[in-house]
Parts: sequence; structure tokens; C-alpha cells
Amino acid sequence: MESSSELAAHWDDAYGHGDATRSWYQTEADGSLRMFERCAVVPADSVVDVGAGASTLVDALLARGHSDVTVLDISAAGLDTARRRLGPAADRVNWLVRDLLAWRPERTYRVWHDRAVFHFLTTDEARGQYLRVLRAATAPGSVAVFATFAPDGPERCSGLPVARYSAAGLAAVLDAHWLPVADGRERHRTPFGAVQPFTWAAFRRC
Ligand SMILES: C[S@@+](CC[C@H](N)C(=O)[O-])C[C@H]1O[C@@H](n2cnc3c(N)ncnc32)[C@H](O)[C@@H]1O
Repeated sequence: MESSSELAAHWDDAYGHGDATRSWYQTEADGSLRMFERCAVVPADSVVDVGAGASTLVDALLARGHSDVTVLDISAAGLDTARRRLGPAADRVNWLVRDLLAWRPERTYRVWHDRAVFHFLTTDEARGQYLRVLRAATAPGSVAVFATFAPDGPERCSGLPVARYSAAGLAAVLDAHWLPVADGRERHRTPFGAVQPFTWAAFRRC
């Protein structure tokens, strides 16, 4: 994808056809919530969900009493889907339409969450940009939770190539300031019945 605007248009289109047309769609963000529990995330913790799109993680966090939730995506259409679903509760969320790789965070977060975004970065340059943003948006003690396609997962998603990771592979990409906390594997069932193996991995910044 050549530019941010082309990438935004690609993802806006992906969000324009209904929940059941998106392979990554899930009714509940169970895997994310399980990892948050394993990392002892509490409602007082600030959370940024990067590349969140229309994910229902934000609904679950608000229901659990989180009051400092930021949801970022390059796709305004993805975020609008979540906003509409939440109704008035959407006012309790900080919504950011941004290209994550160009984002300059103005504060830090206790929890960084990324489900199925990092794996779209297939060059060292893009991964380097991502890691610089991750570092700017977190502080020592912050937790970062990732879900990526596993080594035996799909090679493409939404028509785009992806990189696939084990938990050790993700740890190798992060710098030595990120200590592994928990990991796991999920067999995500898409709305059209395919099974996609995911790697979950959480790290704490020291
Ligand atoms: C496979 S979807 C996953 C969405 C969400 N995390 C979930 O679990 O439902 C990938 C998401 O990453 C977003 N995305 C891709 N590249 C991005 C970028 N450079 N900056 C911000 N968001 C991006 C897309 O718009 C899309 O919402």
C-alpha cells in the first residue's frame, strides 16, 4: 500500500460490508480479556487499543469499569461502526483516526493492545516505526498485549500479506525492555467457518 490515504480507503472498504464479511470479526473479545486477566489489568489502568476498528473490546472494557480507554484506527468507518454500536457510551471513549505508524502519542498508557495489526507490517522499516510509537506510548510497568497470526496461520488477511509469529518470535522483535508475561494460542473461527491459528503474547516493559 503506497500511502496512508490508500491504506485508510482499503480498510474503510473492508468495514463497509457488514460484520459477517470480516474474517477477524468476533462477537466478544474473549482472547483479549483473558490476556488482560493474566496480566492483572484492572479498571484503573489506561488502555489504548491500536488498530481496533469495530472491535467489541471497548464495550467490554467500559462494562468492566475502565474510564480511560483510547481506541485508534486508520479507518474512520471501522471506528464509526463501534461508535454507533456503543451509542451514548461512546462519549466515554477517546477515538483517534490515525495512521498508527505516523502517530505521535501525547501521553503514555498502562496497557497497549494490538489484535491483528502488527502482523500486517512486513518490512523492518515499518516494524521499526511501530516499535518507536509503542515506546513513546508506554512507560516502564506498561503491558503490551499482541495477537498475530501463528506460524501455521494464514499468509494473507483482507487481501494483504502478513508476517506470522510464535510468542518467541514476537519477543525477538521487541527490544530487551519488554519481558514476556503470558502467551497462548487461539483457533479463531471466522464468520464463514474457516479456522485461523493466532498467537497471543503479553509483555511488561521494564
Ligand atoms: C484485521 S483488523 C483487526 C481489527 C481489530 N483489532 C479486531 O481485533 O477486531 C486490522 C485493523 O488494523 C487497522 N489498521 C491497519 N493498518 C493500520 C495503521 N497503519 N494504523 C492504524 N490502524 C491500522 C485496520 O483499519 C483494521 O481495523
